[in-house]
Amino acid sequence: MSANAPSSRRLSPPDILARKGGAPIVCLTAYTTPIARIADPHCDILLVGDSLGMVVHGLPSTLGVTLEMMILHGRAVQRGSSHALLVIDLPFGSYEEGPEQAFRSAARVMQETGAGAVKLEGGQHMAETIAFLVARGIPVMAHVGLTPQAVNVFGGYKVQGRAADAARVRADARVAAQAGAFSVVLEKVPERLAREISEDIAIPTIGIGASAACDGQVLVIDDMLGLFAGFHPKFVRRYAELGQLADAAVAAYAEDVRARRFPGPDHVFADDGPG
Ligand code: KIV
Repeated sequence: MSANAPSSRRLSPPDILARKGGAPIVCLTAYTTPIARIADPHCDILLVGDSLGMVVHGLPSTLGVTLEMMILHGRAVQRGSSHALLVIDLPFGSYEEGPEQAFRSAARVMQETGAGAVKLEGGQHMAETIAFLVARGIPVMAHVGLTPQAVNVFGGYKVQGRAADAARVRADARVAAQAGAFSVVLEKVPERLAREISEDIAIPTIGIGASAACDGQVLVIDDMLGLFAGFHPKFVRRYAELGQLADAAVAAYAEDVRARRFPGPDHVFADDGPG
């Protein structure tokens, strides 16, 4: 069980906010019930990220992810968890038009999944939307730095906030905090900037590729388990190689079937007897 966390109830956005400057906040993405069951006891936050578009659905980016996909996976993760705060990404196109559109999308996500909060990408240009949602009962996690839904504007998944660009990312985080976000993801920003922002703002920073100076960390679970082949970001530590294990297991099964070694005597049913 994670530090500071009572086991009898789900963590809430105020619980996460109260962790500012305290024990590091542990966050992982989850997209399915079985993975949520594994991650939930160890995590403070389970994020149903729109990375599921690439990780689960094989899309080339997060841009093709819909609200319906987020709700479907959000419900699955909700069923597999009882401890961690459940946060669900608002996907591209579901909130950028303005506060009212964002409210409609976020309210659907909250009502249909039981999530405790939503995450949206953006700082300064999302300030009005964040304040609008929070005032209407929807806790918001912001996401600044590399915001993958803007990959086409950035021209790739590049580090954000180097040199003169630091002021933009710093202002994004500051304005998101002032607008009422309860935490902010800092993605792929230099260590020095991540430290400055974490010291500067009053809400927890959750880093991904943003150093241990942040108040917490998030990773895409398939990346850290070695399940998502073909993508090895520098900021990921691989804690397991489940892709290799699964490959070996499937190969062994295929060999057994072809050699008629499976099913064996333990896997068949007699004319009478149990089962
Ligand atoms: O979509 C996602 O998984 C995310 C995290 C990586 C922060 O936004």
